[in-house]
Amino acid sequence: MKVYLDNAATTPLDLEVFEAMKPFLMENFGNPSSTHSHGRQVRSAIESARKTVAELLHASTSEIFFTSGGTEADNTLICSSISSYNLTHAITSKIEHHAVLHTLENLEATGKIKLSYVNLDEKGNVDFAHLDELLTTNERSLVSLMHANNEIGNLIDLNAVGEICQKHNAIFHSDTVQTMGHYAHDLSSLNVQCVTGAAHKFHGPKGAGFMYIDKSTKIAPFIHGGAQERNMRGGTENVYGIIGTAKALEIAYREMAEHQNFIQGLKDRMIQNLRSSIEGVSFNGESANPEKSLYTVLNVCLPESQDNDMLLFTLDINGISASGGSACSSGATTGSHVLAGIKANPNRGAVRFSFSKYNTAEEIDYASEKIAEFYKQEALK
Ligand SMILES: Cc1ncc(COP(=O)(O)O)c(C=O)c1O
Repeated sequence: MKVYLDNAATTPLDLEVFEAMKPFLMENFGNPSSTHSHGRQVRSAIESARKTVAELLHASTSEIFFTSGGTEADNTLICSSISSYNLTHAITSKIEHHAVLHTLENLEATGKIKLSYVNLDEKGNVDFAHLDELLTTNERSLVSLMHANNEIGNLIDLNAVGEICQKHNAIFHSDTVQTMGHYAHDLSSLNVQCVTGAAHKFHGPKGAGFMYIDKSTKIAPFIHGGAQERNMRGGTENVYGIIGTAKALEIAYREMAEHQNFIQGLKDRMIQNLRSSIEGVSFNGESANPEKSLYTVLNVCLPESQDNDMLLFTLDINGISASGGSACSSGATTGSHVLAGIKANPNRGAVRFSFSKYNTAEEIDYASEKIAEFYKQEALK
């Protein structure tokens, strides 16, 4: 049996998305910047994809820019907002994705900004009072805090952070890569200046995504070149990627409530299975709390005696794909910076299971059984 439980890393392409993309790989090959009919036809498809994305997110088409995915969008929004607004201070957390953390660390290392980290509790929740304090004691800042963490699934309240940022006139960037297509974002009612999306996290193609920049926020381009994306992102458009992104988002919204219920059910089933078969099993961050975590991610914390790599290996030979790691201990170059960021015990391994609409209850039972068997065998050693 082959079971794919690594959907936070990437999701399989939806067949309907593939069908929508196909003509743009073959017959509709024109360059959208060309003014002849081959070009115009493709330009019109791109603009209609932009309209789809904008309408679903309650944004205007002038606020949506297609990119090569989440990493490029995060880099652009962070670097360009800092340089365009002459910001000298940024605030983030230790558990952000590397697309955000490494970008900010690089700006700090090159002397462009001072970087502060907001305090987190032992479950990875942001300390809002500390955020407020950091904003009070510093110059105008960029705040970059992700909507949902890709390893432990923790969600933050975008409204609450937005209000704090508004009070201090800070620019709020949120990496929404893990929630885009999984929750209904209403960007017209949120005080967030910029967010990101990556199509491959919601059954679209890899190497395609977008950024939203609120119309009152004016930033310079990050990738210089042609006049594509209204001078905000040079380079011939990834046409089939853009078409696939919009189609995948459209499907995600069409079926969102149904899938959210179904996937939360799979996650609950796994939690229950593991709790009933493994004594003392625990879960990292807020991942077992349905109110505070992404319904697609469950991060299982292993007892101290058990070998993380061995569990992943055992799962792999049984056809189960998941991902994992433990907190990086001081001085180590590998390991999870997220688990280290919430000060998880580096001697306890962790495995992340992440689910999609294509998983089944049988797959969850099969994976749970294999984990329980592993625990029992290890306990006998
Ligand atoms: C939270 C988060 N941000 C950013 C990214 C990067 O997105 P992409 O793979 O499209 O560059 C990912 C992907 O792993 C992610 O999970």
